[in-house]
Order: sequence, then C-alpha cells, then structure tokens
Amino acid sequence: MKANQTSFSGKKIFISGGSTGIGKGLALEFAKNGASIVILARSKKTLEETVKELRTVGPQDAIYDFAVADVSDISQVNMAAQKTLRTLNGLDLLVCNSGYAKVGKVNDLEESDFRNLMDINFFGHVNVIRAFQDHFIKQNSGDIVLISSMLATFSIYGYGAYSASKFAITGFAQSLRQEMMLHNVRVKIFLPPTTETPGLVKENRDKPDLVKEIEMGSALNATHSVEKVSKAFLSWFPKKRFIGYATWDSWLQYFLVRHFPEWTLLLADGELKSAQKRLDRRKADDLQ
Ligand SMILES: NC(=O)c1ccc[n+]([C@@H]2O[C@H](COP(=O)([O-])OP(=O)(O)OC[C@H]3O[C@@H](n4cnc5c(N)ncnc54)[C@H](OP(=O)(O)O)[C@@H]3O)[C@@H](O)[C@H]2O)c1
Repeated sequence: MKANQTSFSGKKIFISGGSTGIGKGLALEFAKNGASIVILARSKKTLEETVKELRTVGPQDAIYDFAVADVSDISQVNMAAQKTLRTLNGLDLLVCNSGYAKVGKVNDLEESDFRNLMDINFFGHVNVIRAFQDHFIKQNSGDIVLISSMLATFSIYGYGAYSASKFAITGFAQSLRQEMMLHNVRVKIFLPPTTETPGLVKENRDKPDLVKEIEMGSALNATHSVEKVSKAFLSWFPKKRFIGYATWDSWLQYFLVRHFPEWTLLLADGELKSAQKRLDRRKADDLQ
C-alpha cells in the first residue's frame, strides 16, 4: 500500500549502508514519504532486493537506485557519488549510516580490529561526505546527517574500539557543522540506541559473556525496532537540534552523562560488578 504522506516529496536522498538494518529502515520511511533515494553498500544482491522493496512502498514517479562501494575505499566512494548525482540530478540529503560493531576487551582485540573500525565507521563517513561536499557547497543548501551511536556519549566494558570510532564522528561533525553552516548546509548527528538489525545479530555472535550479562542487567539498555528508530529519525530531522536520539532510554542516558558524569560512571561500575558476580555464581553452580 502506498503511503499518503508526501513530506519528502521531490527530495533527493543518499544513504550509505542503506541495504539493511537502520539504513534500510530510513530508506523505507523516506520512500513512503515521497523521496527519491540512492542507497550504497557492498553487496549488490542485497541492494537490488532493497530497491525492489522501495518501489513497492513509494510513489511511482520517484527514483530508486543503488551504488556498490566500500565506504573505506575513496575511489569507489567518489564513483558512487558521481553516479548518484547523475541519477538523482542533484542531492538534498546525505545520510552517512554504514558501520558495524566489534566488541571485545582492549586486551583481546587485534590491532586490525581497531583500524578496521576506524576505517569503516569514521573514515567511511569522512570519505562519503568529502565526495559530496563540493556539490553541497555549489548548491548552497542541503543537509548532511552522520549516524553515530549512543555509545558515542558514554562507553562501557568491551566497547573501547567501537566507541572510539563513534566518538570520533562527534568531533568531526561539530567542526563540519560550522564549516558547512557558511554554505547554508545543515550538519547533524543521530545516535541510535540498541536496535534489532542484522548488524546487531552479528555483533551478539562473538560478544563476550560479561558484556551480554551487563546488557541484560542494565537499566539503560532496551532493544528497539528498526521501524521505531527510523520514525524517530524522520520526526527529529526537520527540527533544529544538532543531536538526535530515538527513545526515552537514550534521552535519559544522554541527560545523565551530561549532568551527572561522575555518578553515571558509578552506575556503570555497579552494573559491571553485579554482572561479574552473576556470571561467577553461575559458573560455581555449574561446577557443583
Ligand atoms: N543496531 C544497533 O544496535 C546500532 C546501535 C547504535 C548505532 N548503530 C549504527 O547504525 C548504523 C547501522 O547499523 P545497523 O545495525 O543497521 O547495521 P547493519 O544491519 O549491519 O547494516 C549495515 C549497512 O551498512 C553496509 N555496510 C557495512 N559496511 C560497509 C562498508 N564497508 N561499505 C559500504 N557499506 C557498508 C551494509 O551492507 P554491506 O554489508 O552489503 O556492505 C548494510 O547496508 C551503523 O553505523 C551502526 O554502528 C547501530
């Protein structure tokens, strides 16, 4: 069934990592609201399937297409950007969403894990933005949104490498915001909470037991649907606020981190210690 809302009607949107998870959720919501969209990812097959789905929810006169590229490869990204600008005949909104998580103790991860996370999560966003920056400057209008994570506001045991790549996005985005403001282009960041996506399934597969236990016992870690997070994005996006979050638990976490940083550390330490105790108790029970 086609949606009646057309608030993004005629808008031209590009989403990196738009073939699955949150990126796909955003593409579907934007398509339902009338936008033309190009999505980017590495797997052509998944991109083709998602573009087919976009056609079933959006208006018939909108354009849906894809570009195959790895965001960590500058020349592939530049070619994808040129193709997108030709296909859509311009661009109004760029959403940098591609990324992944690898969880593990700093001590256990390989050096390549740290570098790959920076290459894809941080440099991936930088490469995509730089590929479209001249276009936005010439156009003297538009929006750029960088998807980061709630783990860019506060990090916990096991997320050192991932959080570093997401904290980096915040610093970059704050500076870019001022640079592009002079060209009438808005720059914003969106911080998803834990969201049920294929990426989360992969992340959970090799997550250390202690991290799983912390998350199960945490007061601030609910898992949310892609649809809820995507709808929250669309309602935050037109507003002025630089930082967007999707859910009440995200709001509470951000509030606590900003206003009670030391107390938040103590809360997180308490959750870590309780999780360790529960794991130790279970191991002791298993041995009996
Ligand atoms: N899910 C969560 O709980 C959560 C929470 C906070 C923040 N986030 C962030 O939200 C974003 C989306 O996450 P998700 O959970 O929706 O992930 P996902 O389901 O794994 O989807 C990731 C998307 O990015 C693409 N991608 C991955 N690596 C790429 C690369 N090197 N080059 C080009 N495309 C690439 C994937 O397609 P290909 O594999 O085919 O390339 C796919 O389209 C990420 O930045 C993630 O860090 C997620």
